[in-house]
Amino acid sequence: MSKSEPKKTLKLSDPDTGDSWDLSVLQGSTGPDVIDIRKLYAQTGYFTYDPGFTSTASCDSEVTYIDGDEGILLHRGYSIEDLAEHCDFMEVCYLLLRGELPNAQEKETFKTTITYHTMVHEQMSNFYRGFRRDAHPMAVMVGVVGALSAFYHDSTDINDPEQRMIASHRLIAKMPTIAAMAYKYSVGQPFMYPRNDLGYAENFMHMTFGVPCEEYKCSPAVARAMDRIFILHADHEQNASTSTVRIAGSSGANPFACIAAGISSLWGPAHGGANEAVLNMLNQIGDKKNIPEFLERAKDKDDPFRLMGFGHRVYKNYDPRAKVLKKSCDEVLKELNVSDPLLELAQELEQIALSDDYFVERKLFPNVDFYSGIILKAIGFPTSMFTVLFALARTVGWVAQWNEMITDPNQKIGRPRQLYTGNTKRDFVPINQR
Ligand code: SDX
Repeated sequence: MSKSEPKKTLKLSDPDTGDSWDLSVLQGSTGPDVIDIRKLYAQTGYFTYDPGFTSTASCDSEVTYIDGDEGILLHRGYSIEDLAEHCDFMEVCYLLLRGELPNAQEKETFKTTITYHTMVHEQMSNFYRGFRRDAHPMAVMVGVVGALSAFYHDSTDINDPEQRMIASHRLIAKMPTIAAMAYKYSVGQPFMYPRNDLGYAENFMHMTFGVPCEEYKCSPAVARAMDRIFILHADHEQNASTSTVRIAGSSGANPFACIAAGISSLWGPAHGGANEAVLNMLNQIGDKKNIPEFLERAKDKDDPFRLMGFGHRVYKNYDPRAKVLKKSCDEVLKELNVSDPLLELAQELEQIALSDDYFVERKLFPNVDFYSGIILKAIGFPTSMFTVLFALARTVGWVAQWNEMITDPNQKIGRPRQLYTGNTKRDFVPINQR
Protein backbone atom coordinates (compact mmCIF):
# COMPACT_ATOMS: atom_id res chain seq x y z
CA MET A 1 0.00 0.00 0.00
CA SER A 2 2.68 2.50 0.98
CA LYS A 3 4.11 4.25 -2.06
CA SER A 4 6.66 5.99 0.12
CA GLU A 5 10.27 4.91 -0.44
CA PRO A 6 13.04 6.24 1.86
CA LYS A 7 13.88 9.76 0.65
CA LYS A 8 16.84 10.27 2.96
CA THR A 9 17.97 9.31 6.44
CA LEU A 10 18.19 11.36 9.65
CA LYS A 11 20.76 10.56 12.33
CA LEU A 12 19.72 10.15 15.96
CA SER A 13 22.61 10.14 18.42
CA ASP A 14 22.99 9.56 22.19
CA PRO A 15 25.77 11.83 23.54
CA ASP A 16 26.07 9.70 26.71
CA THR A 17 26.87 6.45 24.94
CA GLY A 18 28.10 7.72 21.58
CA ASP A 19 25.54 5.47 19.90
CA SER A 20 23.82 6.79 16.79
CA TRP A 21 21.11 5.43 14.55
CA ASP A 22 19.98 6.18 10.99
CA LEU A 23 16.23 6.76 10.62
CA SER A 24 14.63 6.66 7.15
CA VAL A 25 12.49 9.59 5.98
CA LEU A 26 9.48 8.52 3.91
CA GLN A 27 7.85 10.87 1.42
CA GLY A 28 4.19 10.95 0.41
CA SER A 29 2.65 12.66 -2.62
CA THR A 30 2.24 15.94 -0.70
CA GLY A 31 2.32 17.19 2.89
CA PRO A 32 4.95 16.55 5.59
CA ASP A 33 7.46 13.72 5.15
CA VAL A 34 7.59 11.16 7.99
CA ILE A 35 10.39 9.67 10.03
CA ASP A 36 9.99 5.89 9.99
CA ILE A 37 10.27 4.83 13.66
CA ARG A 38 8.81 1.34 13.28
CA LYS A 39 12.11 -0.23 14.39
CA LEU A 40 13.13 2.55 16.82
CA TYR A 41 12.47 0.58 20.03
CA ALA A 42 14.22 -2.54 18.71
CA GLN A 43 17.22 -0.45 17.62
CA THR A 44 17.45 2.07 20.48
CA GLY A 45 15.39 0.80 23.43
CA TYR A 46 13.46 4.10 23.35
CA PHE A 47 9.75 4.72 22.75
CA THR A 48 8.54 8.02 21.29
CA TYR A 49 6.11 10.07 23.35
CA ASP A 50 3.14 11.80 21.69
CA PRO A 51 -0.13 11.85 23.73
CA GLY A 52 -2.91 13.03 21.39
CA PHE A 53 -0.73 12.12 18.38
CA THR A 54 0.05 15.76 17.55
CA SER A 55 3.12 14.74 15.50
CA THR A 56 2.40 11.12 14.67
CA ALA A 57 1.28 9.54 11.39
CA SER A 58 -0.64 6.35 12.23
CA CYS A 59 -0.82 5.10 8.63
CA ASP A 60 -0.36 6.12 5.04
CA SER A 61 -3.60 6.96 3.24
CA GLU A 62 -4.86 8.04 -0.19
CA VAL A 63 -8.35 9.09 0.89
CA THR A 64 -8.15 12.64 2.32
CA TYR A 65 -5.48 15.32 2.53
CA ILE A 66 -5.64 18.35 4.84
CA ASP A 67 -3.28 21.32 4.81
CA GLY A 68 -4.16 22.95 8.14
CA ASP A 69 -2.06 26.08 7.59
CA GLU A 70 -3.62 26.83 4.20
CA GLY A 71 -7.13 25.62 5.08
CA ILE A 72 -7.11 23.03 2.28
CA LEU A 73 -9.22 19.83 2.28
CA LEU A 74 -8.98 17.33 -0.61
CA HIS A 75 -10.84 14.07 -1.07
CA ARG A 76 -8.87 11.81 -3.47
CA GLY A 77 -7.32 15.06 -4.80
CA TYR A 78 -10.56 17.00 -5.36
CA SER A 79 -11.13 20.15 -3.24
CA ILE A 80 -14.03 20.16 -0.81
CA GLU A 81 -15.21 23.42 -2.40
CA ASP A 82 -15.48 21.78 -5.86
CA LEU A 83 -17.16 18.68 -4.48
CA ALA A 84 -19.69 20.70 -2.42
CA GLU A 85 -20.44 22.91 -5.44
CA HIS A 86 -20.56 20.38 -8.29
CA CYS A 87 -21.31 16.94 -6.79
CA ASP A 88 -24.00 15.22 -4.78
CA PHE A 89 -23.35 13.00 -1.79
CA MET A 90 -23.66 9.75 -3.75
CA GLU A 91 -20.86 10.88 -6.10
CA VAL A 92 -18.67 11.78 -3.10
CA CYS A 93 -19.42 8.39 -1.49
CA TYR A 94 -18.35 6.65 -4.71
CA LEU A 95 -15.20 8.80 -4.86
CA LEU A 96 -14.22 8.08 -1.25
CA LEU A 97 -14.88 4.35 -1.59
CA ARG A 98 -13.49 3.69 -5.07
CA GLY A 99 -10.91 6.50 -5.51
CA GLU A 100 -12.40 8.07 -8.67
CA LEU A 101 -15.50 10.13 -9.45
CA PRO A 102 -18.13 7.93 -11.17
CA ASN A 103 -19.29 8.41 -14.75
CA ALA A 104 -23.06 8.67 -15.30
CA GLN A 105 -23.57 4.91 -15.58
CA GLU A 106 -21.38 4.12 -12.58
CA LYS A 107 -23.24 6.74 -10.54
CA GLU A 108 -26.67 5.31 -11.44
CA THR A 109 -25.57 1.77 -10.57
CA PHE A 110 -24.10 2.92 -7.25
CA LYS A 111 -27.22 4.91 -6.33
CA THR A 112 -29.40 1.86 -7.09
CA THR A 113 -27.15 -0.38 -4.99
CA ILE A 114 -27.37 2.00 -2.04
CA THR A 115 -31.12 2.52 -2.47
CA TYR A 116 -31.82 -1.22 -2.31
CA HIS A 117 -29.94 -1.51 0.98
CA THR A 118 -31.82 1.30 2.80
CA MET A 119 -34.36 -0.97 4.50
CA VAL A 120 -33.34 -2.57 7.81
CA HIS A 121 -34.36 -6.03 9.08
CA GLU A 122 -37.87 -5.64 10.50
CA GLN A 123 -36.80 -7.06 13.88
CA MET A 124 -34.36 -4.16 14.35
CA SER A 125 -37.28 -1.94 15.27
CA ASN A 126 -37.59 -3.97 18.48
CA PHE A 127 -34.28 -2.53 19.74
CA TYR A 128 -35.76 0.97 19.90
CA ARG A 129 -38.43 -0.07 22.37
CA GLY A 130 -35.73 -0.97 24.86
CA PHE A 131 -34.74 2.72 25.13
CA ARG A 132 -36.54 5.43 27.08
CA ARG A 133 -38.23 7.91 24.73
CA ASP A 134 -35.88 10.62 26.03
CA ALA A 135 -32.71 8.58 25.42
CA HIS A 136 -30.08 10.65 23.59
CA PRO A 137 -30.31 9.52 19.93
CA MET A 138 -26.55 9.00 19.85
CA ALA A 139 -26.98 6.32 22.54
CA VAL A 140 -29.55 4.69 20.27
CA MET A 141 -27.22 4.90 17.27
CA VAL A 142 -24.34 3.25 19.14
CA GLY A 143 -26.61 0.39 20.21
CA VAL A 144 -28.54 -0.18 17.01
CA VAL A 145 -25.58 0.13 14.61
CA GLY A 146 -23.57 -2.27 16.74
CA ALA A 147 -26.54 -4.66 16.61
CA LEU A 148 -26.31 -4.76 12.79
CA SER A 149 -23.52 -7.31 13.40
CA ALA A 150 -26.22 -9.66 14.71
CA PHE A 151 -28.25 -9.45 11.50
CA TYR A 152 -25.81 -9.36 8.64
CA HIS A 153 -23.49 -12.30 9.23
CA ASP A 154 -23.07 -12.65 5.45
CA SER A 155 -20.96 -9.46 5.36
CA THR A 156 -18.72 -9.74 8.40
CA ASP A 157 -15.79 -11.67 6.88
CA ILE A 158 -13.30 -8.83 6.66
CA ASN A 159 -10.95 -10.84 4.46
CA ASP A 160 -13.53 -11.19 1.68
CA PRO A 161 -13.48 -8.04 -0.54
CA GLU A 162 -17.03 -8.77 -1.72
CA GLN A 163 -18.33 -8.98 1.86
CA ARG A 164 -16.41 -5.80 2.81
CA MET A 165 -18.07 -3.91 -0.04
CA ILE A 166 -21.55 -5.24 0.81
CA ALA A 167 -21.03 -4.23 4.47
CA SER A 168 -19.84 -0.78 3.32
CA HIS A 169 -22.92 -0.33 1.11
CA ARG A 170 -25.22 -1.56 3.91
CA LEU A 171 -23.75 0.89 6.41
CA ILE A 172 -23.96 3.90 4.07
CA ALA A 173 -27.51 2.94 3.08
CA LYS A 174 -28.90 2.05 6.50
CA MET A 175 -27.51 4.91 8.60
CA PRO A 176 -30.23 7.36 7.41
CA THR A 177 -32.94 4.76 8.16
CA ILE A 178 -31.56 4.01 11.64
CA ALA A 179 -31.08 7.74 12.35
CA ALA A 180 -34.60 8.62 11.22
CA MET A 181 -36.00 5.79 13.36
CA ALA A 182 -34.13 7.18 16.38
CA TYR A 183 -35.78 10.56 15.80
CA LYS A 184 -39.24 9.04 15.23
CA TYR A 185 -38.93 7.00 18.42
CA SER A 186 -37.96 10.13 20.41
CA VAL A 187 -41.08 11.99 19.27
CA GLY A 188 -43.46 9.03 19.52
CA GLN A 189 -44.27 8.93 15.81
CA PRO A 190 -44.42 5.74 13.70
CA PHE A 191 -41.30 4.68 11.81
CA MET A 192 -41.40 5.52 8.11
CA TYR A 193 -40.07 3.02 5.58
CA PRO A 194 -37.50 4.22 3.03
CA ARG A 195 -38.78 4.85 -0.52
CA ASN A 196 -36.88 3.65 -3.58
CA ASP A 197 -38.05 6.56 -5.73
CA LEU A 198 -36.31 9.21 -3.59
CA GLY A 199 -32.70 10.42 -3.54
CA TYR A 200 -30.49 9.78 -0.53
CA ALA A 201 -31.07 13.10 1.32
CA GLU A 202 -34.72 13.33 0.26
CA ASN A 203 -35.35 9.78 1.48
CA PHE A 204 -33.79 10.64 4.83
CA MET A 205 -36.01 13.73 5.16
CA HIS A 206 -39.05 11.63 4.21
CA MET A 207 -38.24 9.02 6.90
CA THR A 208 -37.55 11.74 9.47
CA PHE A 209 -40.33 14.26 8.94
CA GLY A 210 -42.89 12.29 6.89
CA VAL A 211 -45.97 10.74 8.55
CA PRO A 212 -48.21 7.91 7.24
CA CYS A 213 -51.31 10.11 7.17
CA GLU A 214 -50.11 12.61 4.57
CA GLU A 215 -47.65 13.05 1.69
CA TYR A 216 -44.36 14.71 2.80
CA LYS A 217 -42.68 16.89 0.22
CA CYS A 218 -39.10 17.94 0.94
CA SER A 219 -38.23 21.27 -0.67
CA PRO A 220 -35.46 20.85 -3.26
CA ALA A 221 -33.46 23.60 -1.51
CA VAL A 222 -33.60 21.74 1.82
CA ALA A 223 -32.74 18.40 0.17
CA ARG A 224 -29.77 20.09 -1.53
CA ALA A 225 -28.69 21.71 1.75
CA MET A 226 -28.81 18.35 3.55
CA ASP A 227 -26.93 16.67 0.71
CA ARG A 228 -24.25 19.37 0.91
CA ILE A 229 -24.02 19.03 4.71
CA PHE A 230 -23.45 15.30 4.21
CA ILE A 231 -20.67 16.03 1.69
CA LEU A 232 -18.96 18.46 4.09
CA HIS A 233 -18.95 15.89 6.91
CA ALA A 234 -18.02 12.82 4.83
CA ASP A 235 -14.37 12.33 5.77
CA HIS A 236 -11.54 14.18 7.45
CA GLU A 237 -8.23 12.26 7.52
CA GLN A 238 -7.23 10.54 10.80
CA ASN A 239 -9.56 12.37 13.24
CA ALA A 240 -10.46 10.80 16.58
CA SER A 241 -13.46 8.77 15.40
CA THR A 242 -11.75 7.58 12.20
CA SER A 243 -8.71 6.54 14.23
CA THR A 244 -11.10 4.70 16.56
CA VAL A 245 -12.61 2.84 13.60
CA ARG A 246 -9.14 1.99 12.29
CA ILE A 247 -7.84 0.69 15.60
CA ALA A 248 -11.03 -1.32 16.21
CA GLY A 249 -10.70 -2.77 12.70
CA SER A 250 -7.02 -3.57 13.22
CA SER A 251 -8.04 -6.32 15.68
CA GLY A 252 -10.22 -7.92 13.00
CA ALA A 253 -13.53 -6.73 14.51
CA ASN A 254 -16.46 -6.78 12.08
CA PRO A 255 -17.31 -3.55 10.20
CA PHE A 256 -20.58 -2.90 12.08
CA ALA A 257 -18.80 -3.08 15.44
CA CYS A 258 -16.05 -0.77 14.13
CA ILE A 259 -18.55 1.86 12.97
CA ALA A 260 -20.37 1.64 16.33
CA ALA A 261 -17.01 2.40 17.96
CA GLY A 262 -16.57 5.38 15.63
CA ILE A 263 -20.04 6.69 16.58
CA SER A 264 -19.08 6.46 20.25
CA SER A 265 -15.93 8.50 19.72
CA LEU A 266 -17.67 11.08 17.52
CA TRP A 267 -20.22 11.74 20.31
CA GLY A 268 -17.73 13.67 22.45
CA PRO A 269 -18.18 17.49 22.57
CA ALA A 270 -14.54 17.99 21.58
CA HIS A 271 -15.32 16.16 18.32
CA GLY A 272 -18.62 15.58 16.55
CA GLY A 273 -20.65 16.48 19.64
CA ALA A 274 -19.50 20.08 19.16
CA ASN A 275 -22.32 20.94 16.73
CA GLU A 276 -24.89 20.25 19.47
CA ALA A 277 -22.65 22.07 21.99
CA VAL A 278 -22.45 25.16 19.73
CA LEU A 279 -26.24 25.61 19.75
CA ASN A 280 -26.35 25.06 23.51
CA MET A 281 -23.54 27.63 23.90
CA LEU A 282 -25.30 30.21 21.69
CA ASN A 283 -28.49 29.75 23.70
CA GLN A 284 -26.44 30.14 26.91
CA ILE A 285 -24.86 33.39 25.62
CA GLY A 286 -28.34 34.53 24.61
CA ASP A 287 -27.53 38.09 23.61
CA LYS A 288 -24.68 39.98 21.89
CA LYS A 289 -24.12 42.03 25.04
CA ASN A 290 -23.02 38.83 26.84
CA ILE A 291 -20.34 37.94 24.27
CA PRO A 292 -17.42 39.69 26.07
CA GLU A 293 -18.18 37.82 29.33
CA PHE A 294 -18.19 34.44 27.57
CA LEU A 295 -15.02 35.21 25.59
CA GLU A 296 -13.28 35.98 28.90
CA ARG A 297 -14.53 32.68 30.29
CA ALA A 298 -13.20 30.86 27.18
CA LYS A 299 -9.73 32.28 27.92
CA ASP A 300 -9.84 31.46 31.63
CA LYS A 301 -7.89 28.24 32.26
CA ASP A 302 -9.80 27.70 35.48
CA ASP A 303 -13.11 27.86 33.65
CA PRO A 304 -14.10 24.70 31.72
CA PHE A 305 -16.05 26.85 29.22
CA ARG A 306 -14.62 26.66 25.70
CA LEU A 307 -15.81 28.45 22.58
CA MET A 308 -17.51 25.48 20.95
CA GLY A 309 -17.16 25.30 17.17
CA PHE A 310 -13.83 27.11 17.41
CA GLY A 311 -10.34 25.69 17.13
CA HIS A 312 -9.01 22.56 15.49
CA ARG A 313 -6.08 20.21 15.93
CA VAL A 314 -5.11 20.53 12.28
CA TYR A 315 -6.65 23.73 10.89
CA LYS A 316 -4.70 26.80 11.93
CA ASN A 317 -6.73 28.70 9.38
CA TYR A 318 -10.42 28.96 8.57
CA ASP A 319 -11.93 25.45 8.17
CA PRO A 320 -12.91 25.37 4.47
CA ARG A 321 -16.05 23.46 5.40
CA ALA A 322 -17.11 26.27 7.76
CA LYS A 323 -16.83 28.74 4.89
CA VAL A 324 -19.22 26.68 2.74
CA LEU A 325 -21.60 26.16 5.67
CA LYS A 326 -21.61 29.85 6.54
CA LYS A 327 -22.70 30.61 2.96
CA SER A 328 -25.31 27.83 3.06
CA CYS A 329 -26.66 29.25 6.33
CA ASP A 330 -27.70 32.47 4.65
CA GLU A 331 -29.18 30.62 1.64
CA VAL A 332 -31.19 28.09 3.67
CA LEU A 333 -32.56 30.60 6.17
CA LYS A 334 -33.64 32.86 3.30
CA GLU A 335 -35.20 29.90 1.44
CA LEU A 336 -37.07 28.84 4.58
CA ASN A 337 -37.89 32.45 5.43
CA VAL A 338 -36.41 31.87 8.87
CA SER A 339 -34.65 34.68 10.67
CA ASP A 340 -32.83 33.08 13.59
CA PRO A 341 -31.26 35.54 16.05
CA LEU A 342 -28.73 32.80 16.85
CA LEU A 343 -27.26 33.24 13.35
CA GLU A 344 -26.65 36.93 13.96
CA LEU A 345 -25.28 36.09 17.41
CA ALA A 346 -22.93 33.50 15.86
CA GLN A 347 -21.73 35.95 13.22
CA GLU A 348 -21.11 38.64 15.87
CA LEU A 349 -19.32 36.12 18.11
CA GLU A 350 -17.11 35.02 15.20
CA GLN A 351 -16.25 38.60 14.29
CA ILE A 352 -15.30 39.57 17.86
CA ALA A 353 -13.36 36.34 18.50
CA LEU A 354 -11.38 36.66 15.25
CA SER A 355 -10.19 40.11 16.30
CA ASP A 356 -9.24 38.99 19.83
CA ASP A 357 -5.50 38.38 20.41
CA TYR A 358 -6.13 35.19 22.42
CA PHE A 359 -7.85 33.50 19.48
CA VAL A 360 -5.62 35.09 16.83
CA GLU A 361 -2.37 34.04 18.58
CA ARG A 362 -3.66 30.48 18.99
CA LYS A 363 -5.02 30.42 15.42
CA LEU A 364 -8.49 29.48 16.65
CA PHE A 365 -10.95 29.78 13.76
CA PRO A 366 -14.51 28.53 13.29
CA ASN A 367 -14.59 24.82 12.41
CA VAL A 368 -17.16 22.65 10.65
CA ASP A 369 -19.40 22.60 13.72
CA PHE A 370 -19.80 26.35 14.18
CA TYR A 371 -22.49 27.00 11.56
CA SER A 372 -23.89 23.54 10.82
CA GLY A 373 -26.23 23.52 13.81
CA ILE A 374 -27.91 26.78 12.78
CA ILE A 375 -28.87 25.28 9.41
CA LEU A 376 -30.05 22.02 11.01
CA LYS A 377 -32.13 23.93 13.56
CA ALA A 378 -33.72 26.00 10.78
CA ILE A 379 -34.61 22.80 8.90
CA GLY A 380 -36.32 21.46 12.02
CA PHE A 381 -33.90 19.04 13.69
CA PRO A 382 -33.64 19.08 17.50
CA THR A 383 -30.06 19.75 18.73
CA SER A 384 -29.89 16.17 20.05
CA MET A 385 -29.99 14.96 16.41
CA PHE A 386 -27.07 17.14 15.19
CA THR A 387 -24.29 14.66 16.00
CA VAL A 388 -26.44 11.81 14.64
CA LEU A 389 -26.41 13.63 11.29
CA PHE A 390 -22.63 14.02 11.55
CA ALA A 391 -22.32 10.25 12.15
CA LEU A 392 -24.69 9.53 9.23
CA ALA A 393 -22.48 11.54 6.87
CA ARG A 394 -19.13 10.38 8.29
CA THR A 395 -20.03 6.69 7.85
CA VAL A 396 -18.75 6.73 4.25
CA GLY A 397 -15.41 8.15 5.42
CA TRP A 398 -15.16 5.60 8.19
CA VAL A 399 -15.84 2.66 5.85
CA ALA A 400 -13.48 4.03 3.17
CA GLN A 401 -10.67 4.35 5.73
CA TRP A 402 -11.56 0.96 7.27
CA ASN A 403 -11.33 -0.72 3.84
CA GLU A 404 -7.99 1.01 3.20
CA MET A 405 -6.68 -0.17 6.58
CA ILE A 406 -7.73 -3.79 5.95
CA THR A 407 -5.93 -3.87 2.57
CA ASP A 408 -2.79 -2.08 3.82
CA PRO A 409 0.14 -4.58 3.95
CA ASN A 410 1.82 -2.28 6.51
CA GLN A 411 -1.17 -2.55 8.84
CA LYS A 412 -0.73 -4.44 12.13
CA ILE A 413 -2.95 -4.48 15.21
CA GLY A 414 -2.86 -1.01 16.77
CA ARG A 415 -1.10 -1.37 20.12
CA PRO A 416 0.61 1.82 21.44
CA ARG A 417 3.10 1.69 24.34
CA GLN A 418 3.45 4.18 27.26
CA LEU A 419 5.78 6.12 29.52
CA TYR A 420 5.20 4.27 32.82
CA THR A 421 5.17 6.60 35.85
CA GLY A 422 3.54 4.32 38.43
CA ASN A 423 5.00 2.28 41.31
CA THR A 424 7.96 0.06 40.59
CA LYS A 425 7.84 -3.51 41.99
CA ARG A 426 7.10 -3.60 45.75
CA ASP A 427 6.48 -6.35 48.33
CA PHE A 428 2.92 -7.47 48.94
CA VAL A 429 1.38 -6.33 52.29
CA PRO A 430 -1.24 -8.68 53.82
CA ILE A 431 -4.51 -6.97 54.71
CA ASN A 432 -3.95 -7.31 58.49
CA GLN A 433 -0.77 -5.23 58.11
CA ARG A 434 -2.22 -2.40 55.98
C1 SDX B 1 -14.27 18.19 14.84
O1 SDX B 1 -9.88 16.16 13.97
C2 SDX B 1 -10.80 16.45 13.11
O2 SDX B 1 -10.60 16.48 11.93
C3 SDX B 1 -12.20 16.67 13.71
C4 SDX B 1 -13.27 17.18 12.77
C5 SDX B 1 -13.66 16.14 11.75
O3 SDX B 1 -14.23 16.52 10.71
O4 SDX B 1 -13.52 14.92 12.05
O5 SDX B 1 -12.83 18.34 12.10
C6 SDX B 1 -14.55 17.52 13.54
O6 SDX B 1 -14.16 17.53 15.84
C7 SDX B 1 -14.06 19.69 14.86
C8 SDX B 1 -13.69 20.23 16.29
C9 SDX B 1 -15.00 20.35 17.08
N1 SDX B 1 -14.71 20.67 18.49
C10 SDX B 1 -14.99 21.89 19.00
O7 SDX B 1 -15.41 22.85 18.35
C11 SDX B 1 -14.76 21.97 20.51
C12 SDX B 1 -13.99 23.26 20.84
N2 SDX B 1 -12.61 23.14 20.33
C13 SDX B 1 -11.62 22.64 21.23
O8 SDX B 1 -12.02 21.82 22.26
C14 SDX B 1 -10.26 22.37 20.56
O9 SDX B 1 -10.01 23.42 19.73
C15 SDX B 1 -10.07 21.07 19.82
C16 SDX B 1 -10.39 19.89 20.67
C17 SDX B 1 -10.90 21.04 18.60
C18 SDX B 1 -8.60 21.01 19.40
O10 SDX B 1 -7.86 20.97 20.54
P1 SDX B 1 -6.27 20.77 20.51
O11 SDX B 1 -5.76 20.69 19.12
O12 SDX B 1 -5.92 19.69 21.44
O13 SDX B 1 -5.75 22.17 20.99
P2 SDX B 1 -5.49 22.52 22.50
O14 SDX B 1 -6.61 22.04 23.35
O15 SDX B 1 -4.10 22.10 22.82
O16 SDX B 1 -5.60 24.12 22.43
C19 SDX B 1 -4.46 24.92 22.15
C20 SDX B 1 -4.72 26.23 22.90
C21 SDX B 1 -4.99 26.00 24.39
O17 SDX B 1 -4.64 27.21 25.05
P3 SDX B 1 -3.13 27.31 25.73
O18 SDX B 1 -2.98 26.11 26.65
O19 SDX B 1 -2.16 27.26 24.56
O20 SDX B 1 -3.13 28.62 26.46
O21 SDX B 1 -5.93 26.83 22.39
C22 SDX B 1 -6.91 26.87 23.42
C23 SDX B 1 -6.48 25.87 24.47
O22 SDX B 1 -6.98 26.23 25.75
N3 SDX B 1 -8.19 26.49 22.80
C24 SDX B 1 -9.35 27.08 23.06
C25 SDX B 1 -10.27 26.45 22.21
N4 SDX B 1 -9.65 25.50 21.49
C26 SDX B 1 -8.36 25.54 21.88
N5 SDX B 1 -9.68 28.08 23.93
C27 SDX B 1 -11.00 28.44 23.92
N6 SDX B 1 -11.94 27.88 23.12
C28 SDX B 1 -11.62 26.89 22.27
N7 SDX B 1 -12.55 26.33 21.49
